[in-house]
Amino acid sequence: MNETEIKARILCVYGNPKQGGFVHGCVGHIADHLAEKGAEIDHLRLGECTMGDCVGCFTCLRTGNCPIKDDMNEIIDRIRSCDGIVTGASVRNGFFPAIFKLFYERITYILGFGRELRGKYILAVGAVGKAGGRKPLGRLLTFREFHTYVSDYLFFRTGIPTTLTTADVAPALDKAADKFYEAVTARRPLPWRVRMLERVDNFIMRKFLLERNPDHVYDYVISRWKDQGMMR
Ligand SMILES: Cc1cc2nc3c(=O)[nH]c(=O)nc-3n(C[C@H](O)[C@H](O)[C@H](O)COP(=O)(O)O)c2cc1C
Repeated sequence: MNETEIKARILCVYGNPKQGGFVHGCVGHIADHLAEKGAEIDHLRLGECTMGDCVGCFTCLRTGNCPIKDDMNEIIDRIRSCDGIVTGASVRNGFFPAIFKLFYERITYILGFGRELRGKYILAVGAVGKAGGRKPLGRLLTFREFHTYVSDYLFFRTGIPTTLTTADVAPALDKAADKFYEAVTARRPLPWRVRMLERVDNFIMRKFLLERNPDHVYDYVISRWKDQGMMR
């Protein structure tokens, strides 16, 4: 496809450790639907990536670089260059898969605190066997604490063992994908509620973390905020 014809670059994050399964089927279905509409799709399968645990050295907060040698630096660049993200993962023990939490931790300081996820369009798909976990899973899958544009968070009950199929929910997936694609290509602005929350969050973070900046620990984050005109 010609560069000028691409209206949306979408990163599809498969957030369960095993390949296949209901949720990954849903993410793949959405990816195909978006590709048919003209989106450029990048598939990110967390289960196939090498990702070490964040050890809390705070080097990334100071410099913007993580010293762990694994796939995360490349993944971070892929997130930077997309317009929207489709995420999918299942409830585990009433929460989320450990691998998705690890992924989330590793992008928090660089992309989240650096405000690079702001305004990214998100379509999230979660599933549970029987019950529980909807809220905590949705919190991570939507990255909403970093002021993303959440187009939809779909949540399905699959049964244990799984009896629900991707085909059963295809109409809901297609509808959500159409809405998401429209938001991305129209570059819809953040809803006012998100912008209000963002103002409060940014005020608190500036006042109580960044302006204090003990031992220069927030140097990189401050430089990103200055670049974006959010701090003087
Ligand atoms: C380790 C593990 C923990 C799980 N914990 C829960 C749970 O707390 N509640 C529940 O209803 N289902 C639980 N499940 C079932 C999954 O949520 C269900 O199998 C999943 O949504 C199906 O989607 P998938 O095929 O994409 O994995 C768990 C599954 C695994 C593997």
